[in-house]
Amino acid sequence: MLSITALFTLLFSLAAVNATAVPRRAEGGGAVSLSSSSSSRISRSGGEALEKRGNGWPFGGGGSNAPPQANPQVASVNFVGNLQDPNLQRDSCGSTRWGDRLLVVCRDTEYLVNQDIAADVYNGTQAGFTSSSASYMDFAFPGDKPTVEPWTPTKYVNFTTQVPLYGSNSLTVPFYPNPPGECADNGAGACPDGSRYALWPDSPPTVTCELGDLITAYTWVKNSHIKGLTALVQDPSVALYKVTSAPLWANRDTLPSVELVNGQFWQENQIPFGDYGTVIQGEWLYLYGQTSNQSHIAVARVHPQDVEDVSQYSYYLSGQWGSEQPTGVNDTRAWLDHPGAGGQGTYYYVDGWQSFVWLGQLTNSATPNPRIAVSPAAEGPWTESVQIDAFPGGDYFFPGYSIQAHPGITPLTLDKEIYVSYTKDDGFGPNNFAVYNTPMYHFTWQ
Ligand SMILES: *[C@@H]1O[C@H](CO)[C@@H](O)[C@H](O)[C@H]1NC(C)=O
Ligand SMILES: *[C@@H]1O[C@H](CO)[C@@H](O)[C@H](O)[C@H]1NC(C)=O
Ligand SMILES: *[C@@H]1O[C@H](CO)[C@@H](O)[C@H](O)[C@H]1NC(C)=O
Ligand SMILES: *[C@@H]1O[C@H](CO)[C@@H](O)[C@H](O)[C@H]1NC(C)=O
Repeated sequence: MLSITALFTLLFSLAAVNATAVPRRAEGGGAVSLSSSSSSRISRSGGEALEKRGNGWPFGGGGSNAPPQANPQVASVNFVGNLQDPNLQRDSCGSTRWGDRLLVVCRDTEYLVNQDIAADVYNGTQAGFTSSSASYMDFAFPGDKPTVEPWTPTKYVNFTTQVPLYGSNSLTVPFYPNPPGECADNGAGACPDGSRYALWPDSPPTVTCELGDLITAYTWVKNSHIKGLTALVQDPSVALYKVTSAPLWANRDTLPSVELVNGQFWQENQIPFGDYGTVIQGEWLYLYGQTSNQSHIAVARVHPQDVEDVSQYSYYLSGQWGSEQPTGVNDTRAWLDHPGAGGQGTYYYVDGWQSFVWLGQLTNSATPNPRIAVSPAAEGPWTESVQIDAFPGGDYFFPGYSIQAHPGITPLTLDKEIYVSYTKDDGFGPNNFAVYNTPMYHFTWQ
């Protein structure tokens, strides 16, 4: 049997693989300027080719009244701090606005004891390890800014500023508990046969309702079943979780409660809508799903109040919205034309640009170079993504991944700024185990 040390090193590696190892289809001539001043051919799924001219509205019913395509240009980039819950080491964090705070949810999490990797994690037990965890971030007053404090570098956290996070996680139960039957008796979803149900959230909770202090959100999580580096199920089913705010009278450390709505909301071999990313715009919640390895992305939508009712969803198939559901991951009618660069990232909507935005990294890349693409509609046409910076990578096998935008920090000024983080991965100690940090940067747009 795999030693526990090897196992946990592997588990972390797997998280990285999950985050980055899905190749995208070729996009042709590489990076292209977001500027649409020249005429270019855009091919859509199904081989149809359409002409895109000037700042016009290439297709999608915009007509001549449609706004010009947004063209984000970076004005400045500044390091803010490390997103830091002092006794957690963890992978792949995304966030959502949560009342007067930010809720940050991450993947594989190790619980440190006095700022040290818990000895028992590496010495034969699975204590202090879960597939997901969550924290709150407080805003600085006044304004939509993270709280930033000095940090004295430690052996795992070599930064001098931190964005403090807090919240009381269980050491044994993940934020998203494994559905029954998926080796749910331990925090890692580790099974007696050496396989693992790794319930890794790929996107943060989507808030569908906020009534006073009662916040309701949902998260779609793939039931990834893995052994070693191999996915035992190529396109797994998807569990739907409901996330509800803690009562007002609860301690500030009390995390939202999480309830499994349906362990098989999407079935195996269906497109995992909602797992890859979500956006609420107007009356719709849009849900992106990405197929295994092929990196095809499709989009569905539902009214936020109907999230739990699968009969209420509609799907973008063959260039139009309708109630027909794709037959499965290989239904080419559902595949979108490059809605982003195919790697880990975040979809959000910017009112000031009247645009959907995707910010993230290239598929198959563990180099933390953030890219951006925009579109007037959830389904497209998307601009070719362009690189907007190059974050420092760590010295582990996967230097940096899980680039995530944090639109919930600055919801009213997204046309002027965005906070972006990623997972920086360094090897540490004689066993070269991976140490995870979450540096965050602030971008302003011209
Ligand atoms: C972990 O186990 C090794 C080998 O059994 C032992 O030498 C070491 O002291 C243990 N470390 C801790 C911190 O318990
Ligand atoms: C910590 O970061 C500083 C500045 O980036 C760097 O010079 C130093 O080598 C780092 N220290 C360690 C132990 O990695
Ligand atoms: C989808 O296509 C891929 C590549 O041909 C294949 O490996 C996979 O089994 C197919 N999945 C389904 C559900 O048909
Ligand atoms: C994923 O796709 C790439 C190229 O598209 C291929 O080289 C690789 O073998 C595939 N991996 C798996 C596990 O199917």
